[in-house]
Amino acid sequence: MRKNIVAGNWKMNCNLDESQHLINALKLEDFEQIKAEIIIAPPFTNLYPAHQSLQDSKIKLSAQNLNENENGAFTGEISPEMLKSVGAEYVILGHSERRAIYNETDELLAKKVTTALKHDFKIMFCIGEELDKRQAGKHFEVVENQLKNGLFHISESEMKNIVIAYEPVWAIGTGETASPEQAQEIHAHIRKVLAKKYNENVAEGTSILYGGSVKPNNAKEIFAKKDVDGGLIGGASLDAKSFKAIADSF
Ligand code: 13P
Repeated sequence: MRKNIVAGNWKMNCNLDESQHLINALKLEDFEQIKAEIIIAPPFTNLYPAHQSLQDSKIKLSAQNLNENENGAFTGEISPEMLKSVGAEYVILGHSERRAIYNETDELLAKKVTTALKHDFKIMFCIGEELDKRQAGKHFEVVENQLKNGLFHISESEMKNIVIAYEPVWAIGTGETASPEQAQEIHAHIRKVLAKKYNENVAEGTSILYGGSVKPNNAKEIFAKKDVDGGLIGGASLDAKSFKAIADSF
């Protein structure tokens, strides 16, 4: 049975003090009763203190990226082992901001996926189309290609460590969300693509999250859709009460 998941992608927000403050505020909220896994992805520099603060909490920790190499002369980069050593259990890969601003290609992402799995990370693998592709009706094709080229080199058993996050680029940080029907339609398509590549078990067992302007006032109807297993939340995850209110949708 696939899991419901509510994950907060903090992006490049929160210095150490702010991060600890937000984590303390999250710890005051009761996530225990919620029937979903709860994950936060603070910036690299805040991961270790976050890990220490979350020892007695159900909230899990994710990194926002990793380097595809083991170690060596890669100035400014962070290795999978470094992230493991500070308590990251998940990693976000393929976020549209990494694809668009840092030119991360499907080919590079495929390598990152391989390295991350080798180090026992669970991966939130992001896919999603830009506005012009949606308007041209090419969104199904775009996500299918992103999956084929970035993810589908892995085995059926490795798929157990994969969560897919569908995040239409036009809905990220814009206040515009996909309608619940649009989300359901493409999530169902993604599941079909998984069944075609692997099998029904993989398709039914993989959590598929929606991301893009999820807020307390729209989460419930989006998460209620059959093939939507939760959300990857940006802006609204920076406030403990709104993140909790979103998680309360389950
Ligand atoms: P917003 O929720 O701010 O639109 O961001 C979504 C996102 O990019 C999560 O990874």
